[in-house]
Amino acid sequence: LAQTYGDIVYWRVRGQHHYLLNHPDYVHELLVTQQAHFRKLPADRPVRGLVEIVGQGLLFSDGTRWSQQRQLLAPAFQTQRLASYARAMVETTERLISGWRNGDERQIRQEMTELTMAIIAQTLFGADVLDEVRTVSTALAVALGGLRDTNLSVQADWLPTPLYQRAHALQQVEAFLSRLINERRDAGVRDDLLSRLLQAVTAGDMTEQQLRDEAITMFVAGHETTANALAATWQLLAQHPDIEARLHAEVDHVLAGRRPTLDDAPRLVYATMVLKEAMRLHPLPWGITRFAAREVTIGGYRIPSGSEVTVSQYVLHRDPRYFAEPERFEPERFEPERLKSLPRLAYFPFGAGTRACIGQRFAMVEAPLILATIAQRFRLRLPTAVPASLPAQPPAPFDTTRRLQLQARGVRA
Ligand code: HEM
Repeated sequence: LAQTYGDIVYWRVRGQHHYLLNHPDYVHELLVTQQAHFRKLPADRPVRGLVEIVGQGLLFSDGTRWSQQRQLLAPAFQTQRLASYARAMVETTERLISGWRNGDERQIRQEMTELTMAIIAQTLFGADVLDEVRTVSTALAVALGGLRDTNLSVQADWLPTPLYQRAHALQQVEAFLSRLINERRDAGVRDDLLSRLLQAVTAGDMTEQQLRDEAITMFVAGHETTANALAATWQLLAQHPDIEARLHAEVDHVLAGRRPTLDDAPRLVYATMVLKEAMRLHPLPWGITRFAAREVTIGGYRIPSGSEVTVSQYVLHRDPRYFAEPERFEPERFEPERLKSLPRLAYFPFGAGTRACIGQRFAMVEAPLILATIAQRFRLRLPTAVPASLPAQPPAPFDTTRRLQLQARGVRA
């Protein structure tokens, strides 16, 4: 659409106005300067998908409710919390890979999902769940996959259909989270995100339903995106041995065989560039949608109240006006000198403005530390069944089910 129709694409389906904005300045208008005129959800109709699972948590709330919740949750993401989070991130990664053996073939997206899920549970909910995450992540995948194209509310949930399976899967995820919540209630308040939520309920500032919605929002938003970035990174590294070699050189130099800590995250400069480039090519989410709460003008176009307006990381991150040879995996694009010529918001994996990702710093500590911890010990290779000489242009599409083979590096005993 963007290639054919340019910087503003308009279409209308069943009376609903849709706009796709494909210019960094328009991204800035939508997410920053004019964001007050937009809502996360339409005012006049229910929407399907993720919101059906996470409810009115931080991701989908608006107005006073959103600002109160954002204020309540923000301290859990402050700098002083990150050191203990970083320890948990590295320890959980080490525990996961202690079961990895040279020559194993692993479904890497699944492994990264389980890892980042265990890290969220550990850091924000104070719960050690690494042994259970396979079941929970499978249930969540069933629940999420299902809700994208169905409407649960109109179906009887005893029917032995895929719909029933999805409803059952969601119940499993909810039961898991309520167990974590109840365990924390029983164990007494600590200094983590879940405790802040529980204190707010006790003080009467939040309902049990809000607690449920915030907990599931953090749980879902806090792991799938990072898992996607890491899985894309491993797959791209497996296809680009020269970039992988440079990454290994940095990891070995910075860490010299030690376990990484928070202080290492900013020193893993190339690893961070590699991750950013993987998120350029394979962003999750791939787009951000808002609903106009009143008539607005963007780029000289009048956008009527109620319109659905989308900006897409996927589209802009591959726009040749901002990224030469956009299909090429080239971490050097994120060298500070080269970034100077990149227009503001041509790259926005974490969104922008007041609704930008609350977990951005968390993720940008977590992902390099996980990458470094694993890269210290393993290379990930495409299994031999796949031809070694994959064409450089265009790269193989990102395959979330791809298995990669482990090769021990033997840097550490
Ligand atoms: C690579 C990892 C991540 C990416 C690419 C990412 C991306 C995003 C994006 C694009 C948004 C804005 C959505 C919008 O404007 O509609 C967002 C919001 C959000 N993210 Fe992330 N995220 C990541 C990691 C995390 C983590 C680790 C957490 C929690 C620990 C988290 C929690 C949230 C929450 C709660 C929001 C809603 C914020 C608000 O509306 O106030 N995310 N994320």
